[in-house]
Amino acid sequence: MNKLIIQNLSLQYSDGTESLRDISLNIPSNAITVLFGPAGGGKSSLLRCLNRLNDLTEVRVVSGKVLLEGENILDPNTDVIALRRKVGMVFARPVVLPLTIRGNLTYGLELAGEQRKSRLDEAVERSLKLAALWDEVKERLGEPGIALSGGQQQRLCLARVLANQPEVILLDEPTSGLDPLSTAKVEEALQVLKQDYTIVLVPHSVQQAARTADYAAFFLQGELVEWAEGKEIFTNPQNKRTEDYVEGRFG
Ligand SMILES: Nc1ncnc2c1ncn2[C@@H]1O[C@H](COP(=O)(O)OP(=O)(O)OP(=O)(O)O)[C@@H](O)[C@H]1O
Ligand SMILES: [Mg+2]
Repeated sequence: MNKLIIQNLSLQYSDGTESLRDISLNIPSNAITVLFGPAGGGKSSLLRCLNRLNDLTEVRVVSGKVLLEGENILDPNTDVIALRRKVGMVFARPVVLPLTIRGNLTYGLELAGEQRKSRLDEAVERSLKLAALWDEVKERLGEPGIALSGGQQQRLCLARVLANQPEVILLDEPTSGLDPLSTAKVEEALQVLKQDYTIVLVPHSVQQAARTADYAAFFLQGELVEWAEGKEIFTNPQNKRTEDYVEGRFG
């Protein structure tokens, strides 16, 4: 089933820069869809469209739709707060709140009105386990989040998104600042998470794209050049420009 359907989406910045041109793409549930390609291709712009974070930037939707279970989320009447709870985002650099490890995880739920300690404890444990961080921090939930290593902070941010029980998880180069071991842990967590969530990942390298993709879309200068299922695009690209990029001839 397609969780998200992007139809003829075009975006423009206020200075006239076109960051996406007529993009149509389906994003299936229970899978990892990878958006990859060289810098400036429009990957982050597209990701930010999927939970309306572009509202906070200079970007303007020129045309098109983004359907989340059939509802166009670009519609002005969309409840953006509810949307962002449903469609969570993890950024390249971990944005840890100046709170304890536990506080980072309960913050969103408390804002939403949850006060029952048992519910909050449950959410903390569940989300940390899902983000493959529980074993490392279960004895130190009262310590500041920023006391964690970079790799742990990134998994804490993933756990924070998960604590809000989203349906879709967007990740923009979530492992770009991490060592190989932490990167592997995040990738492993995503492989487990995809069983229950829809995941859209902008990887930090072609290698990561190939390792993680169930579906992959190649973006070049605002254009969706090629879209394919599985590893097809990395082993047997149909377009010459995809082939050149995947084989490292530019990028
Ligand atoms: N705030 C902005 N104002 C004007 N143009 C912008 C802005 N942000 C991005 N752009 C332009 O939009 C295009 C797409 O940028 P975007 O950040 O989506 O690309 P990307 O594929 O994520 O690149 P990267 O791999 O470097 O993260 C680029 O041409 C970029 O210069
Ligand atoms: Mg980007």
